[in-house]
Amino acid sequence: MSDQSTEFLPTMTEIAREAGALVMEYFHQRVKVEYKGEVDLVTVADRKSEALILERIRRHWPSHDILGEEGGLHDQGSDYRWYVDPLDGTTNFAHGFPVFCISLALEYKGRSVAGVVYDPTRDELFAAEQGSGAYLNQQRIEVSKTANLAECLAATGFPSHKRHKNPNIFFYHQITLRTHGVRRAGSAALDLCCVACGRFDAFWEFNLNPWDTAAGVLLVEEAGGQVSDFRGGPFQINSRETLASNGLVHPAMLAEFGAIFSGRGLEELPDPRAYRS
Ligand code: IPD
Ligand code: CA
Ligand code: CA
Repeated sequence: MSDQSTEFLPTMTEIAREAGALVMEYFHQRVKVEYKGEVDLVTVADRKSEALILERIRRHWPSHDILGEEGGLHDQGSDYRWYVDPLDGTTNFAHGFPVFCISLALEYKGRSVAGVVYDPTRDELFAAEQGSGAYLNQQRIEVSKTANLAECLAATGFPSHKRHKNPNIFFYHQITLRTHGVRRAGSAALDLCCVACGRFDAFWEFNLNPWDTAAGVLLVEEAGGQVSDFRGGPFQINSRETLASNGLVHPAMLAEFGAIFSGRGLEELPDPRAYRS
């Protein structure tokens, strides 16, 4: 990362790799699963990973605020704030499905400064600093050049609480019929990284939290992509709507979302006689 050395990224990278190694040890042991909600899982790996990350952040930057998924906000009145997802993809992790990551992001006075997402199953380290581009294992990455929605591979996710109040299954249905397909891999931070490096052309999800999105959104923007809410307004860290894309297909995605919200042009379920033939 010769042209990408910053005050924060080298240490963030070290911390994410260390947490990734810890999480992998637990992954091989197949640890016990606990429930935070009806289908909201947590394991010892989530807690130990967060404890490690918080200890390292405090050691290097003792005055910074930290918002971690498991421990909540440690507010010291600093202009710096960390967003920590110690294990994004816990449901995958708990089932032995190897798609999960560690996500760390740093904000200064409300603006994203740096983000790192580490996938320990593939040893892929995504890193970005504001204004300096996005990198995967020290190689510069860019969003895809797909301009036609019908040729897109998209991704989404479903929340693990209040599932019955989430409309996303309708969006999943509609966007699947208008693209090459919609993946639901189970790690929002990695989904955003996949947009940043051009594997996915677009990603959306309702009701994500700041620790899910903070690093990945910076990666998409630094890779030349676009992130907004579902009506095209600016993405905000506490937003309940995340739409990320390569920028080229953003208007088409927004048009589809507008149509779905207003109930226009929805595909009907086929008659059983039609799908049997
Ligand atoms: C979850 C994952 C998943 C997304 C959920 C998140 P967690 O995070 O990012 O892909 O669909 O909305 O809560 O709980 O595994 O850290
Ligand atoms: Ca998460
Ligand atoms: Ca998590």
